[in-house]
Amino acid sequence: MPLYSIQPRAMRLASLTAIILAIFALPGVRAQNNKAGLAWANGDSVDMDQFTVTGKVSWYYSWSAWPVNNDLEFVPMLWGPGHIPEFQNNINQTLAQHHVTSILGMNEPEQSGQSNISPGDAAQMWRTYLEPLRARGLRLGSPAPSSAPSGKQWLYDFLGACAGCNVDFIAFHWYDVNATAFIQYAEDMHNAFQRPLWVTEWACQNFRPPGTSPGAGIQCSDADTVLFLNSTQAFMDSAPYIERYSWFGAMRDLHGVNPANALMDGNGKINSLGQQYMGAIPPRPPGPGSPDGPTAPTSNGGPRIMNYSPTNTIPAVWQVVLLLVAFPILHKLC
Ligand SMILES: *[C@@H]1O[C@H](CO)[C@@H](O)[C@H](O)[C@H]1NC(C)=O
Ligand SMILES: *[C@@H]1O[C@H](CO)[C@@H](O)[C@H](O)[C@H]1NC(C)=O
Ligand SMILES: *[C@@H]1O[C@H](CO)[C@@H](O)[C@H](O)[C@H]1NC(C)=O
Repeated sequence: MPLYSIQPRAMRLASLTAIILAIFALPGVRAQNNKAGLAWANGDSVDMDQFTVTGKVSWYYSWSAWPVNNDLEFVPMLWGPGHIPEFQNNINQTLAQHHVTSILGMNEPEQSGQSNISPGDAAQMWRTYLEPLRARGLRLGSPAPSSAPSGKQWLYDFLGACAGCNVDFIAFHWYDVNATAFIQYAEDMHNAFQRPLWVTEWACQNFRPPGTSPGAGIQCSDADTVLFLNSTQAFMDSAPYIERYSWFGAMRDLHGVNPANALMDGNGKINSLGQQYMGAIPPRPPGPGSPDGPTAPTSNGGPRIMNYSPTNTIPAVWQVVLLLVAFPILHKLC
């Protein structure tokens, strides 16, 4: 057989084999690495660029329609009924001058000390002020309830009252000291609402009044907080349904939340927890010589967290599908 008639066939076979091998070697759905954001209450009094050097922090919000001049993606918020005029007066300019893809709805609507709005009133507000922005190409995040039991129920009631509304993702807050419980809560919210999630506030903070449940009122030490942030952030980085998160918080004054959660010192300079949050350093719990002895049960997550290591290979089911597609093609061409 003349060489030229063998070679093309051999080459086709070789290149197809190479393609199939390449498909198998491809990384699977890799953990997205830039979900982290900044819940930013500092205006321009603190240098935001300290947090952007690794690229892991990719967005921020300010609980308002007011951006802080920066290269990061800004996410405006319609905080509550009292903020409608401010929002309406500023949103067009913000959209014109800043990189905006998404808008956040009301802040802790079920809490009397927060935006304090009924699901029905919130639905009307949503239709009037937020749906027109979606028609302009922006994605809309639900009102963000707290992790009190009434929060999830409020969201159910809101979605019921807002039939036909376009709620692109569910936003929520979570405060407590147990990373495994956080992960279970996030899984439950995903199962309940079947939409992508944004965790727009979370921290190692115990709001349970002392005496109401085991460990209630006991706050996290610095070491607990380091491990809690590490476990919960690693989970969210690899959970495909978590789109974004923002820790509470990147601020000098944590407004009553345990100061161990601060990502900066009192002068607004990023601290080691802040460095950890943006992936610049590995988690570093203070050692035995540290003044911060443990003051709470460890909040490090249990074994469930191991289920969420990033996958680096194509899931088995897709490998079978690819094989079924590839073999007939291979057979035909060769
Ligand atoms: C903002 O822009 C929208 C769409 O162009 C327009 O309908 C609306 O009147 C504007 N609002 C203000 C306050 O200028
Ligand atoms: C943390 O939460 C998990 C899941 O709810 C629970 O099994 C575990 O006992 C909790 N750990 C502590 C120290 O309370
Ligand atoms: C941080 O979290 C990852 C993922 O859960 C885990 O593998 C690692 O051991 C944690 N680091 C520390 C110091 O606990």
